[in-house]
Amino acid sequence: MPMTDPASPGHSPTARPGAAHAAFAGWAAVVLAAGRGTRMRSTLPKVLHPVAGVPMVRLVCDALREAGFAHVVVVVGPDARDAIADAAGPGVHVAVQGEPLGTGHAALAAREAAGRHARILVLNADLPLLSVRTLREMAVRHADGRVPLTFLTAYLDDPTGYGRVIRRNGRVAGIVEESETDGAARGEPEVNGGLYAAEASWLWPTLAAIAPGPRGERYLTDAIARAVADGGAQSYQVQEAIEVQQVNNRGDLAKADQAMRDRIRRALMDSGVTLVDPATTYVDAGVTVAPDTTIHPGSHLIGATRVGTGCRIGPNAVLRDAVIGDRCEIGGSTIEGSTLAEGVTVGPYCHVRPGSFLDRDVHLGNYAEVKASRIGARTAIGHFSYVGDAEVGADVNIGAGTITANYDGERKHQTRLGDGAFIGSDSVLVAPVEVGAGARTAAGSVVTRDVPPGALAVGVPARIRSIEGGSEAGA
Ligand code: UD1
Ligand code: CA
Repeated sequence: MPMTDPASPGHSPTARPGAAHAAFAGWAAVVLAAGRGTRMRSTLPKVLHPVAGVPMVRLVCDALREAGFAHVVVVVGPDARDAIADAAGPGVHVAVQGEPLGTGHAALAAREAAGRHARILVLNADLPLLSVRTLREMAVRHADGRVPLTFLTAYLDDPTGYGRVIRRNGRVAGIVEESETDGAARGEPEVNGGLYAAEASWLWPTLAAIAPGPRGERYLTDAIARAVADGGAQSYQVQEAIEVQQVNNRGDLAKADQAMRDRIRRALMDSGVTLVDPATTYVDAGVTVAPDTTIHPGSHLIGATRVGTGCRIGPNAVLRDAVIGDRCEIGGSTIEGSTLAEGVTVGPYCHVRPGSFLDRDVHLGNYAEVKASRIGARTAIGHFSYVGDAEVGADVNIGAGTITANYDGERKHQTRLGDGAFIGSDSVLVAPVEVGAGARTAAGSVVTRDVPPGALAVGVPARIRSIEGGSEAGA
């Protein structure tokens, strides 16, 4: 199925595919993902909550890889270890923080896994909106800065929930966590973004020397005051404050999700996709849509969905892990885990369930359900039909109300329809059964036995006649 180059909005719409390069070979990146995330009130670890359909920790690791950080260490708790390592994606190193004793303690847990790299990028895993550009810029600034540590800051209208940057005479003095702020510091709009770059030879011993705070946690942020004493801490102010949107609770999650989806929508439109009503068009971070496709309101493009060029999607279409070829028209229907070739038209009110393949110019009208079936080119399934576990040839016409009775109460069975078969309205095809090429079934027939090519099946249960002679071939 030919598909024109799909635009890839991803999490970093600004980055070009293939832009990944090992620009930061001397670096290890450390992603802190071992916190309890209690403020989420969830059994799911915080960093596995999806933002625009993708687990936060995956977004962060993908951005790092794309930015050119090839050596990525994810720090996880012992319980969620495997789940988070899986979600983080290919090639990540895993370090375990035995107990969540604070971000400083967590970063130190990565020491061995970080190897002998001279520079370390450390970041919180609950920062799904950090851009590839910011990650690169951070490393470049640090490399140019000749200080032990560089950290990301932002000015926020509402700094609630963030550590505040404390300055004396304009120079960074340290970071005060919100829980430990007094009145004055609490009003400071300049916050710690949660992304740091440091010299490894300075960082590891410094982290080891950080003492537990009032809550027994070792704060990574204490390293800033230490850097000030050891030659200077440099701040780098993020260009778009939304990038430091962290996710501590469900309110933050909704904000981050919305911001990410806005970013994806803008990238799609910039790449030539029409969104009739961006606000009601929901596109996951992993989805690609080729230019000159139009998406109508109320549509959801989910998971690994790919859409070709010149398509019309929606209104109210749900595409989940669907591959849609060029020039398809999908009305308000749900397509899951299936592939549609070029020129397929579907819906409204259809459900294409996983494992289906609809070849070129197939037409599903309305109220059709197709499951785990292969439908040949130009076949039409116009109205009110269920086609499950079927192999349907090309140029087949499936009349209204046709059902593949694929389940006998114990097992599922296959139905085969040959090229050019004509299935009369309200036919029941009791599987396993085959209707040969060019064969027909009369309206209302219940087909319990195979129909040879060119023959006609009539009645309940269907008798087989040859179309020319009209002679019956058994009861
Ligand atoms: C942290 C910063 C704060 C900053 C904010 C930015 C500290 C002490 N505070 O606050 O200054 O403004 O991020 O978003 O660093 N984690 C571990 N092990 C632990 C504790 C946390 O791996 O023992 C991980 C968490 O999974 C999370 C990250 O570290 O991904 C940050 O932890 P979180 O609790 O969200 O820190 P904040 O209180 O938000
Ligand atoms: Ca946080």
